Amino acid sequence: MNQPTNEAFFERARAVIPGGVNSPVRAFGSVGGTPYFVERGEGPYVFDVEGRRYIDYVMSYGPGILGHAHPTVTEAIAAAAAQGSSFGAPTPSEVLLAEEMCRRIDGMDMVRLVNSGTEATMTAIRLARGATGRDTIMKFAGNYHGHSDALLVAGGSGVAQQGLKGSEGVTAGAVADTVVAPYNVVPEIDDSVAVVVVEPVAANMGLIEPQPGFLQGLRDACDAAGALLMFDEVITGFRLCPGGAAEWSGVRPDLWAFGKVIGGGLPVGAFGASRELMGHLAPLGPVYQAGTLSGNPLATAAGLAQLSLLTPEAYDQLTATATALQDGMVAAFADAGVTASVPRVGPLLGLFFGPTLPTDFDEAKAICENGVYERFFHGMLEQGVALAPGAYEALFPSLAHGRAEVEATIEAVRTVAAGL
Ligand SMILES: Cc1ncc(COP(=O)(O)O)c(C=O)c1O
Repeated sequence: MNQPTNEAFFERARAVIPGGVNSPVRAFGSVGGTPYFVERGEGPYVFDVEGRRYIDYVMSYGPGILGHAHPTVTEAIAAAAAQGSSFGAPTPSEVLLAEEMCRRIDGMDMVRLVNSGTEATMTAIRLARGATGRDTIMKFAGNYHGHSDALLVAGGSGVAQQGLKGSEGVTAGAVADTVVAPYNVVPEIDDSVAVVVVEPVAANMGLIEPQPGFLQGLRDACDAAGALLMFDEVITGFRLCPGGAAEWSGVRPDLWAFGKVIGGGLPVGAFGASRELMGHLAPLGPVYQAGTLSGNPLATAAGLAQLSLLTPEAYDQLTATATALQDGMVAAFADAGVTASVPRVGPLLGLFFGPTLPTDFDEAKAICENGVYERFFHGMLEQGVALAPGAYEALFPSLAHGRAEVEATIEAVRTVAAGL
């Protein structure tokens, strides 16, 4: 019997799926080479179709906060699936998930569950426009809010990796009301602005921490202009700490967008706000949104199971793991004489092959495009450590990453850094 290979799968994939992938970053376009095709995951590891094992820091770009195939999550999914996978009628588990989310996020009274982070931010923008009667939205260069037309412009993540400013196929009209500002500078906000959307910790142009006063400055400027402030917490939500970036920063937005962690690896997104603001949403109000699979029983069961294990102690453990990785990586790069910075915000890690931490997209680009990450990425893959195949992504250590994985990762960094 022929052993399947990554190369063979990639060839077959490219014949029937554009670029061989269903999300562009996965294609290895910016790092070169052939993607590994994952057969299965277990805890901190993924195994490819050739039987190679990797310590995984991609973790589905965030959802896998417990590690892969955690039994609490897989059992919840199996139990839910056995009862039926979608009904087109409300189900108890979507109520439980909404309750749990509102319980953890101070000031958020209601959420609407959708199917992806893209849907969450897209619909929250519509809600903000509907509620304020204003058209303009503001976003920050290098922040990524999913692939809806109005938000793709100056996007981080895969948009940045492909060197795109936005996307072909997006009309000038669709972005006419989107104003882009540099991250970490409080922009002028006038009374045409419906909402300012921000990644409160930027994690799609590498990991960039908000400068002191930036988020509070946005809050104050929005209040002065009568604009709403939205935190896109698709990455930071339920990851930085129980209350996400709002709790972490002490700044409360008017609107939140979530995804990733709240679905336990199944397709989910959500947006939430005060009761008054959410009252503008159909069927209560005139801002329309709907979804055949929204609040899906498998996804909500997985999300609830995952959240049930995300205790304050779990966040302490995640942060300790990230700190150990950060310390070890910094020392390994220094010993090898490699210029690198390893930013960390709570349990989130970044990696820049530059001497200082960037504070905005232009600075991040200058480092991310210097060609070092690509070599490091392949070296690490050789050593059995899977990082994201692009310099603009964060690292996602999980609760399944134990001391052994941390030490093996640092050892791999030492080996690869020595050859850079
Ligand atoms: C901050 C942020 N917002 C929104 C999204 C879009 O989420 P999704 O890929 O689930 O559509 C992402 C995806 O990476 C994200 O990182």
